Amino acid sequence: MMKINENSIMRGVKEHTEQTIPVYRKLYPPEDIVRRIACELYANLKNIKGNMDAWKILNIGIGGGWITIEFLKSLLEDEDSSKPHRVSFTGIDASDAMLVDFKENLKKEFTVVEEGQKIKIENDRNLVFEIELNKKNFLQSEELKEDHFDIYFSFFFIHHLNSHWKQGIDKISKSLKENGVIVIAEIVGDHACWSYSFDKVYDFFELTENTQRLKYLTFIKKSLLLFEKEYDYSNYGVISASNMNPAFDYLEENNFKRLDKMVQENYTIKFTINDWINAVEERIYSVFPEVKGNKKQLMRKLRGIAEDIGIDVDECIKAKDDIDLSFFQKRK
Ligand SMILES: C[S@@+](CC[C@H](N)C(=O)[O-])C[C@H]1O[C@@H](n2cnc3c(N)ncnc32)[C@H](O)[C@@H]1O
Repeated sequence: MMKINENSIMRGVKEHTEQTIPVYRKLYPPEDIVRRIACELYANLKNIKGNMDAWKILNIGIGGGWITIEFLKSLLEDEDSSKPHRVSFTGIDASDAMLVDFKENLKKEFTVVEEGQKIKIENDRNLVFEIELNKKNFLQSEELKEDHFDIYFSFFFIHHLNSHWKQGIDKISKSLKENGVIVIAEIVGDHACWSYSFDKVYDFFELTENTQRLKYLTFIKKSLLLFEKEYDYSNYGVISASNMNPAFDYLEENNFKRLDKMVQENYTIKFTINDWINAVEERIYSVFPEVKGNKKQLMRKLRGIAEDIGIDVDECIKAKDDIDLSFFQKRK
């Protein structure tokens, strides 16, 4: 296997820690939206997978599992007898803190019993429900079991593989059974701008009236220019959290068909410019350049950009975002 530098995979972002996770969470969609996305995801999968009694699911880059936990709840709450009765769920993440966060989130929602590596979700629905979590760097780890999984979730993960994304997709593809389904989530809307997808901003004409949103997008654009000019750092990637089209094309060229299903939910997200700027210090988001030494200087420069544009760093911003889920099925 090709040798891979760990930093190139994580884009130099440190593993998330207890301190960084709450800041990272500020960009999560509201709970009711996550719930809706998860319900629609479950309904779509049930529809695609028909009356299959057992589902083996793989979720790489599972993180805190904000769609995943709600998805598991939908599954457990389903009263229909045609639901799957055996679910084995494998979660992989390179960050220990993320896996701890996932476990805590799981315990908030379910009664769980831990047996070695396995976590069993107790229920009175006659459902055998097992979760296995593995801390590993997916690209550097050994091959996954071939023809093993029925479903694979990539929620804002594949872009983390940078130039190794095709290698990652090949590895996932091999581990899926025939008719196996890949679900890929991406961010559309104002936050897509951090990955240079300015064409994904919607309600474009509203920007002429909503100057706060316009100023925020200007802040993003000017920050990207600063990163390039003064820090030799670009957020542009062939694929990104907001643009998975090359990955979609690659899947279609490699024995997958795109299904006529789509989950799409838009929402407003509230935060301040200061939430972003304060995240520079620990480099919580990979949108920021890797600064060795004086991070305060970058923070000052970002404050300067906000001041030039006339946007208050403590003002509550209401950005418009959208989460889209796309479905691909492995051909026979
Ligand atoms: C943007 S987060 C998404 C987390 C989760 N899917 C969610 O939606 O909340 C990406 C996750 O991928 C993990 N990650 C990044 N590169 C990885 C790799 N090479 N192997 C395993 N996990 C990785 C990170 O630790 C992080 O938890």
